[in-house]
Amino acid sequence: MESGWLPKTWLRTRRYLKLSTSEVDLDSDVKHFPEESRRTSLFWRAAPWIINLMLLSLSGAFLLQAIRIRQQVLGPLLTREYETASRECGSKKPLELSGEFGVRSIWRGEPNAAVDAAWDSLDLTSAMTVSRDEIERVGKLRNSSVILDSGGYMASLGAFHQMHCLNVLRKYTYLDYYIVKEPEFFRTPTVRKHTDHCIEMLRQLLMCSADLHLITYDWVDGVDHPWPDFSTNQFCRNYEDVHAWGKAHVVKSNYSGGLIPKPKNAITRKLPPD
Ligand SMILES: *[C@@H]1O[C@H](CO)[C@@H](O)[C@H](O)[C@H]1NC(C)=O
Ligand SMILES: *[C@@H]1O[C@H](CO)[C@@H](O)[C@H](O)[C@H]1NC(C)=O
Repeated sequence: MESGWLPKTWLRTRRYLKLSTSEVDLDSDVKHFPEESRRTSLFWRAAPWIINLMLLSLSGAFLLQAIRIRQQVLGPLLTREYETASRECGSKKPLELSGEFGVRSIWRGEPNAAVDAAWDSLDLTSAMTVSRDEIERVGKLRNSSVILDSGGYMASLGAFHQMHCLNVLRKYTYLDYYIVKEPEFFRTPTVRKHTDHCIEMLRQLLMCSADLHLITYDWVDGVDHPWPDFSTNQFCRNYEDVHAWGKAHVVKSNYSGGLIPKPKNAITRKLPPD
């Protein structure tokens, strides 16, 4: 007779079951239930609500945990690059790093005017400015942030500081030469602190990127042990493009090297002790 849909059948069955108890006076039946079994039946009626509530609190707990993990990853230590630069400096492209042991290049060897000019062309210590929104997005908006007269917050890119650091270390390995050429830096007592700071920055950066490219080994003429091939195929930014972008964004200022006098009413940030 019933050719319908399953839930309808189910409802019908339920109604049928109910009808089957119609002979019994339900009210008196309940009255005759012992107290405990009345509580048990109340429990079973409440059970779906209790289970729902438990599931709701569980998913709420998961949501809070997810938000907490996200905040641990993204903030307050935001891990964002400066978006404008990363958008405008061009995408990363394949590049083979030149790793031959004795390879000649303009960047290496005994210092002279040509080597210095090459390294100087990579350096860019001048400041640029970023907007309030931009400094906030990298999690570095502070009440002690330096705002320049030209408007905007003083900033510079990590790549330029790192290149500057490498250059300082290079020069330090040729101290005899640079102590004469740049005594205003290499004769000061703070030069040791600068070089140690640079080593520490580059250590962290190298550990952070932890290069997993393969160094392979060959047999080579005149050497009886395996010879490493340090030339790895990487995915790199075009540093010249980044440098050109940085140069185009340098703030024109009468104060070279960011040596802007501190305003009298400046809010300051405490530095950790040495
Ligand atoms: C500046 O910010 C720091 C860190 O949030 C805070 O401890 C300090 O009280 C603030 N100083 C002023 C003058 O607002
Ligand atoms: C830099 O100094 C010159 C001359 O003293 C002045 O005319 C100019 O406004 C200054 N520029 C800035 C950005 O302060």
